[in-house]
This record gives sequence, structure tokens and C-alpha cells, in this order.
Amino acid sequence: MIFQDEPIGVMEVLNKRVNAPGGKFTADDLEIMQSLAGFAAVSIVNSRLTHDQKNFFANTMEILGAAIEAISKSSTGHCWRVAQTSCTIARRLKITGQAYKSIYYASLLHDIGYIGAQRQSAQRTEASHPSIGAEMVSTVRLLSAAGPLIEAHHELWDGSGFPHGLKHESIPLGARIISFVEQLEKVRDEVKRESPKIPEGDLHVKLEQFASENIDTLFDPQVVAAYLVEVSPALN
Ligand SMILES: [Fe+2]
Ligand SMILES: [Fe+2]
Repeated sequence: MIFQDEPIGVMEVLNKRVNAPGGKFTADDLEIMQSLAGFAAVSIVNSRLTHDQKNFFANTMEILGAAIEAISKSSTGHCWRVAQTSCTIARRLKITGQAYKSIYYASLLHDIGYIGAQRQSAQRTEASHPSIGAEMVSTVRLLSAAGPLIEAHHELWDGSGFPHGLKHESIPLGARIISFVEQLEKVRDEVKRESPKIPEGDLHVKLEQFASENIDTLFDPQVVAAYLVEVSPALN
């Protein structure tokens, strides 16, 4: 099997079972096999390419996540935890298809604006990182629906968030989820700073408490409910 002058593999046929004398393969058989081998080679190359692309994408995301964490000075694993918890909540809320994928991409890259805002003062960076992040992904077709979620990932249910002070349903649902998880992460970091050896169970009690205390004020009640049902028992 050859693709663009490169051998991809070998196809072997044995023991032709026909009534023909000796059961020998003919020139016609060879021609059929060669054309089948051609198709097989193309399929193999395509599937390798898809596999490599997926691998490359996952690795790039991992590298980006590490860069975002280093520049935004957030705790190790922050991007992945936000993605994991956001996606769990999204599944509980029966979000599927493109909307779900956008939440996955946006939650992984939510703080990417810190990279673009690097030359600004710390205070300005904090305020502008959602909009800068949205702008950064806007030219990537795959991430176009993630942009508005990144832009709104610091908006809060009661309108007290930034950058636009959006309220209730005017904040996209995906952004309400990511914003909630982003605030949970802040509490997690604080608790860990105060007591680095806190058992996971105790940490989650504190997170649940924070979530419940701010239900319908900072956070969309359905998002908090999905978290309490789906995420916290699994971690306890
Ligand atoms: Fe974050
Ligand atoms: Fe953020």
C-alpha cells in the first residue's frame, strides 16, 4: 500500500479458492488488489492524520492552559478544573452539541486574555482579561461561539460582575456556569492558602456552603442546583 510514494503497509492474499486449475492469481486479480490497496492506503493516512490532529489539539490546549496559569498566577490545574466542573454542570443541564463544545473550549481558555493583556497594569489586566480573551479567540472559527462566553465569564447573576454588569438571562448560560466555577475556584484558593492540608471532603463542604449562600444573588439558581446535585456528592 503506497501513498504519495511512501509505503504505508503491505496487503497479502493467500490460497485462492476457485475452480481454476492450480487456483493461481491472475493479472486481473492483481489489478483489483492494487486498486483496493490504494483505497486502504488513503483511509489509513486519513485516520492517522485525524488522530495526530486530535493529539496536537489536546497538547496545544494543555500547553496553553499551563501558560495561562503561569501568567495569570492562578493555581496549578485551574483551567482544567474549571473545564471539568463546568462541563459536568453543563451535562446535568442537558446542554449538548455545539453549545456543549463551546462551554468546553471557553472554560479551558477563559483566562487567555491574561496573555494578551500582559503589558497592562495588574488592575487593568484583571478588568480587561475577559474582553481581551474574547477578542483573541474571535478569529478562530472553531472557537467563535466560545468568545461571548469568555467575554462574560466574570459577569454575575445579580449584575454586580464585569465587564458589562450584565444581569440574569442576558448573560449566556455557558458564561453563567463558567463564572460560577471561576468564583468557586477563588474560594478554593483562599481555603487552600489558609489551610494547605485541608481534607478534600472539608474543602467541598466549604465550597458547597459558598455556593448555597450566593444562590440567586451572585449565581443562577439552576447552575448552583446542578453543581450541588452533580459535582459535590461525587467529590465527597
Ligand atoms: Fe479563571
Ligand atoms: Fe477570569
